[in-house]
Amino acid sequence: MNLTANPAALPGRVIDLLGLIAFEDDLAGKDSPLFASFDPVLGPLLRQVFADERFKASFGQTVILHTQGSLAVRRVAVVGAGSRPDFRPALARHQAATLARIANQVGARSLHILQPSTEVDPQPIRWLEAAAEGAILGAYRFDKYLASEKRTPQTIETASFQTVSPVPPDVAAAAIDRARRVASAIAHARDLVNEPAATLTPTALAADSVARAAATGVVATVLGPADCRERGMGLFLAVAQGSSQEPRFIHLAWRPANAKKRIVLVGKGVTFDSGGLSLKTNEGMLGMKADMAGAAAVLSAIGVAAEELLPIEVHALAACTENMPSGTAYKLGDVLRSMSGKTVEINNTDAEGRLTLADALTYGLGLGPDIVLDFATLTGACVVALGPHTAGVMSNDDAVAANWMAATHDSGEDMWPLPLPSRLMDQLKSDVADLRNTGERWGGALTAGLFLKQFVGAIPWIHVDLAGPSTTDKEWGCYGKGATGFGVASIVQYLRGLAAS
Ligand code: BES
Ligand code: MN
Ligand code: ZN
Repeated sequence: MNLTANPAALPGRVIDLLGLIAFEDDLAGKDSPLFASFDPVLGPLLRQVFADERFKASFGQTVILHTQGSLAVRRVAVVGAGSRPDFRPALARHQAATLARIANQVGARSLHILQPSTEVDPQPIRWLEAAAEGAILGAYRFDKYLASEKRTPQTIETASFQTVSPVPPDVAAAAIDRARRVASAIAHARDLVNEPAATLTPTALAADSVARAAATGVVATVLGPADCRERGMGLFLAVAQGSSQEPRFIHLAWRPANAKKRIVLVGKGVTFDSGGLSLKTNEGMLGMKADMAGAAAVLSAIGVAAEELLPIEVHALAACTENMPSGTAYKLGDVLRSMSGKTVEINNTDAEGRLTLADALTYGLGLGPDIVLDFATLTGACVVALGPHTAGVMSNDDAVAANWMAATHDSGEDMWPLPLPSRLMDQLKSDVADLRNTGERWGGALTAGLFLKQFVGAIPWIHVDLAGPSTTDKEWGCYGKGATGFGVASIVQYLRGLAAS
C-alpha cells in the first residue's frame, strides 16, 4: 500500500473512497466543521444521509454514500469517533482501519482520509502517524489457509491523508515510515499468534526469529534443552518435559554502540497450553495457540528498535514450549529448582506461564538491565478483572510504571494498573518449597504477578498481563478477528520515548 500525506489536488483525479471522521457533536451543531468544509455539495447530502441512516457518530459507527458523479470522489465513508473531547491522535488508528476495511469491501483502489478538526491541539503529525498505521492494520488479514477465491481481495493501492494544517513533507514522510515499521511489526506478531500450534512450534518460532534477526542487525541466540539444563532452568524445562516438541529459549539482542539504557523484554512463549495434567476443558483450551502472544510481541517489537537504530540496548527473551499432558509431563506435588535457585512446589500444572517466565526473568537479570518488562497471556483472572480488551499492568516501581502507562496512552493500547498486595504472598507459601505456583481463586492475576516479582529482585520491572486483549473474537477498530498484535505498539512507543529523553 502506497501511503502519502497531503497530496496536491490533481485536476480530474478521482478518489474511489473519501474517508471522513465525525464526532457526535458534529451532528448537533449547525456550523459543525465537518459540514462546513464540504458545503455546498457534500454538506447537505451528508446531513440527509446521517438523518436517514440514523448515524450518530458513535465510536466505530459507519455510513457509506455514493456520490453518483456529483463529486470527484466515487464514494464517501464516514466513521464515528464518539465524543470530541475524548479524542486523542492515537485513536485515529481505529478510524483509519475501519475506513481501510470499507475501502477493500467496496473494491476501492484509492482511499483519502481527512483529519477531523478538534478544539484541542490537533497534533497533525501524530494523527498522520496513527492514521497511516491504522490503514495498514485495517487491511491485515490472516488468509493463508483459505482457498484463493475465499480471500477478500486487497484492492487499496494508495491511502492518502489530509492533515488539518500543513506539515513539512519530510516530516510527514518520516511519520509514515514510523507507522509502516510499527504496523509491519504488529502484522508479524499477529501472523505468529494466528498460526496454529501444529506449525508454530517452539522450534519454528525460533527459526522465524533467527531469520528475521539476520535482516536487521539483531543478534539471535537460541538455546536448546541441553543449554537450558546447563543454565539450571528447572522451571522452564519442567513445563516442557511433557511435550514431544523440544523447547527453545530465544534471545534476540539489539546492542547499539551509543546505548543510553539497557532494556530487557520478556514474552511468554507457550505455543500451546493444554493445561498439562491439570488439563483444561475443551472450551478453555480453544484459543490456546495464542498463549505465545507475549513472545510474539517482544520478538516483533525489537526489530523496530533495530530498524530505527534507537540508542537503546534491547533484549527480547522468550522461553518457548508447549504445555502438554503425557507420561513424561511434570506433576502436581513436584518440587522444582528454578534458575534463580528458588524452589517451587507445583499445585497446578496449568499455571505454567509464570514458571517459564521466572527462568526467563532470571536469565534477563543476568544481562544487567536498567528495566525489565514482561508480556504474558498469564491469567484468566486478569480478563475477569479488566474485561477482554484491557491489559493489566503490575510493577515494583511507580515512576517506571507511570512512564509505561504514558507510552500506552500514546500508542492507543488499553492498559490499566493493578496492585501487587504483599498480603497475598501468604497464598504462595509452600510447606516443602520456597514458593508454590498458584494461590487461591480470588486475585489470581495479582498472585501471578507476585510470583513473578519474586524473580526480579530490586530491578525496576513492569508486568503486563495481556490474556484478554491478545486476541479478539469481534472486529473492532484496528483489530480484526483473531490475533491483535497487542503490546507491540506500546513497546515501540516506550523505546522511542527512552531514546528521545
Ligand atoms: N494461558 C493461561 C491464561 C489464559 C486464560 C490466557 C485465558 C488467555 C485466555 C494460563 O496459563 C493459565 O492457564 N492460567 C490459569 C492460572 C490458574 C491455574 C491459577 C488460569 O487463568 O486459569
Ligand atoms: Mn495455563
Ligand atoms: Zn498459559
